[in-house]
Amino acid sequence: MADFKELLSDRVKETEEVIQGFLPREEGYQRRIMEAMNYSMNAGGKRLRPLLLMETCRMFGGEIREAAPFMAAMEMIHTSSLIHDDLPCMDNDQYRRGKKSTWAQFGEDFGVLAGDGLIVEAFAVAASAFDTTNHPKRAARALQILARKTGIYGMIGGQVVDVELTNQAIPKEKLDFIYRLKTGALLEASMVIGAVLGGAGEKEQERISQIALDVGIAFQIQDDILDVTSSQEVLGKPAGSDEKNGKTTYVTLEGLEAAREEVRRLSARAEALLASLPGERAFLEQIIHMLITREK
Ligand code: IPE
Ligand code: IPE
Ligand code: MG
Ligand code: MG
Ligand code: MG
Repeated sequence: MADFKELLSDRVKETEEVIQGFLPREEGYQRRIMEAMNYSMNAGGKRLRPLLLMETCRMFGGEIREAAPFMAAMEMIHTSSLIHDDLPCMDNDQYRRGKKSTWAQFGEDFGVLAGDGLIVEAFAVAASAFDTTNHPKRAARALQILARKTGIYGMIGGQVVDVELTNQAIPKEKLDFIYRLKTGALLEASMVIGAVLGGAGEKEQERISQIALDVGIAFQIQDDILDVTSSQEVLGKPAGSDEKNGKTTYVTLEGLEAAREEVRRLSARAEALLASLPGERAFLEQIIHMLITREK
């Protein structure tokens, strides 16, 4: 376990260095938007998505150099989703990653623009992969996945239904749809893009996609649990946001214990499926396992 923590900290550091290499320089008449974008990118965060992308790529024997632009792009898209999610017109939350949320620090107008800026810059960064890649077909496929899983068939689509169904009861299958899209889609994209860039075959990509979706839904259920059981000091974002916003979650629908059980069940299923794949996967397994007990 000590070994895992050390390795994890090394790999998060590696991820961090990759991300830093792609952040925009704060210059020009429009420098305020670069400041707002970098403010949130540099506020911390677990870097789970780029880490999963890198480790899945590694597992299939891919080079980190190939994954790098997509790792940075993924964290930019994720961060843009958080900046917009916190806006007064959405969850109206004032803290994120242990600091004032972007809109609370820079104003609502800059919250909108910084989210837009990051999401578009992400695609410019991802497309820069074509300047350096030895596998242009893989990079093209990765770019397609990134766009689809970000947009109306992915994260944005999920946020739409989440927002639309605020303050009303949501049946379980609609809640599953929301989780699969708003949170599952970017986690799925992270791991599948890693697999594609690493040279995985179709069947392997399909398995990775199933694993990642389970991890993604479990991750959101755990987020709902922590929203009820944790605190702003630990989370770096407000607790009680879901109740404040009248959100139906796994916790309100099924209760805390059932929600916890569902996280365990989905994670175990993901771990079992991962065990059926070839390659050096012990570290990925440990990451998935860690997510069950995460406290932030
Ligand atoms: C928060 O994501 C939003 C959800 C999908 C639950 P993370 O918990 O990964 O947030 P950061 O990146 O660590 O801040
Ligand atoms: C949002 O879910 C997931 C996103 C796509 C941003 P939440 O609204 O529960 O995320 P947090 O709790 O604010 O991070
Ligand atoms: Mg939300
Ligand atoms: Mg929120
Ligand atoms: Mg939440």
